[in-house]
Amino acid sequence: MGVFTNLRLNNLEDLFFVEIKDLYDAEQRITKALPKMKEAARSPQLKRAFDDHLRATEGQIERLRQVFSALGRTPEGETCEAMKGLIAESDEIVKAEGDPDVKDAALIAAAQRVEHYEISGYGTARTFAYRIGRADAARLLEATLNEEKQTDKKLTELAEASINVKAERS
Ligand SMILES: [Fe+2]
Repeated sequence: MGVFTNLRLNNLEDLFFVEIKDLYDAEQRITKALPKMKEAARSPQLKRAFDDHLRATEGQIERLRQVFSALGRTPEGETCEAMKGLIAESDEIVKAEGDPDVKDAALIAAAQRVEHYEISGYGTARTFAYRIGRADAARLLEATLNEEKQTDKKLTELAEASINVKAERS
């Protein structure tokens, strides 16, 4: 959500659009951040996870476009200050020096913060979509919500099974 936006929230549909404009902007920021995170990662599995995530994100942007068009709107984003901040923090890790395995653990931590933000946003948007009688939009948002949860789970497994172990040995 933008800091300087004058919000007008007259009804739940207005609020629904605030949520999806925020997600639309957030996803686009993520597509720019992920290649840098992949580049910075040492673990081949982590590189692959970031690659998979990038492809999934492109599909998620497409779903948001479908949501806008189902509701007769042109897709547009509203600066997501929260995602800007999360990505600024992940950029610090990308540029960090030190042990590559510890850096991998830090990249996962940053990626999971992003995922949790998205899980929250998509969960809310999905619930609002049902409430305003748009099950079609709700289903699209729920498909993305499930992907985000899967990504989060995959990152946890990767961290616990190998990355954190290597980081701890460094
Ligand atoms: Fe996403």
